[in-house]
Amino acid sequence: MSVAAVGHGGPGAQEPSGAVSSGLRRGWGVSPGRQEAIARALQGLVPGGGRLSPARLPAVTGVLAAQPDLWADLVVHDPDVRWYLPLHRSNSCDVWLLAWERGQDTDWHDHGGSSGSFAVADGCLVEQYRAASGRRFSRRQLAAGQAVAFGPGHVHNVAHGGGGSATSIHAYSPPLLAMTYYQVTGYGLIARETVAIEGAEGARGRGGAETALADATASAAELRSEVVLPGGTQSIDELLAKARGGLERMRPEAALAALTDDAALVDIRPLEQRIVEGEVPGAIIIGRNVLEWRLDPRSDARIPALARTDRHIIVMCSEGFASTLAAASLRKIGLHRATYLEGGFQAWKAAGLPTRPAQSPG
Ligand SMILES: [Fe+2]
Repeated sequence: MSVAAVGHGGPGAQEPSGAVSSGLRRGWGVSPGRQEAIARALQGLVPGGGRLSPARLPAVTGVLAAQPDLWADLVVHDPDVRWYLPLHRSNSCDVWLLAWERGQDTDWHDHGGSSGSFAVADGCLVEQYRAASGRRFSRRQLAAGQAVAFGPGHVHNVAHGGGGSATSIHAYSPPLLAMTYYQVTGYGLIARETVAIEGAEGARGRGGAETALADATASAAELRSEVVLPGGTQSIDELLAKARGGLERMRPEAALAALTDDAALVDIRPLEQRIVEGEVPGAIIIGRNVLEWRLDPRSDARIPALARTDRHIIVMCSEGFASTLAAASLRKIGLHRATYLEGGFQAWKAAGLPTRPAQSPG
């Protein structure tokens, strides 16, 4: 299953061509006439600027959910592609139309600091959300005609609630710019990644990575043309290539063999990543932010057993990129045998070498 980003000219949308009223963004997902009708329905509910509180947002979603004549003919129900359409945007708020089929959900996410509300117009949705305690999850089922609101710290997973197709109206204030996605772990919800988004509840969802990546790539391409860099600088790709040129590559099997000799495997991944991915038994965990201070033989904060110029240090990160730069840095401070695990923890695990769940810091 993937997620459809229907912005301009998608199913049911018409290319805007005429003038739009103040506060509406030209080129938003529906025709100018439709935008005007929606703006009229929202009159008095959506200010031209500022921020709407969670207490005021259900009026926005509720009034549109109760007027299907404004949007019902635009809805596309697709069992394979979760569908959405931006309906309205002002400086204070954006509003979206979403369609849901059986099995479709959003995955766990927040709203980048925006408050929000959603109202079920048709069918049924289920929302799981993180309770105030942070560790426990709550669940509520929402039928047609019901709406909920949430503040900027809300983290939830919204899903089709069973039965036939569902349709809902979602609003965010300030307008949604980014969402962080979370992984459910034994430690609770761990932030996985933050993505700039073009679609409410839908820039990412289960199975929606390809769409999101395509959007992100397009955004990056747009940005790249405007970036002007000072002369003499290197891109991260150039930096990596230069670092790799001076390093021995250690494949996982070779690294394992070296560990039985005199090498030390140093894991520089942050706790959050180790919790999600797992660990290598016996690896020494040193945060990337303190690595040089722990391994410089001249440092007061050094680990004596490791901070030796002749010590064979194999730096490991998740995929073998950050560790390359880290190993190159260690060489510069005198650890001439420092190298990195090619492909990182992911390659180690893929090779079937020993791993274990991350050990609790407590
Ligand atoms: Fe959401």
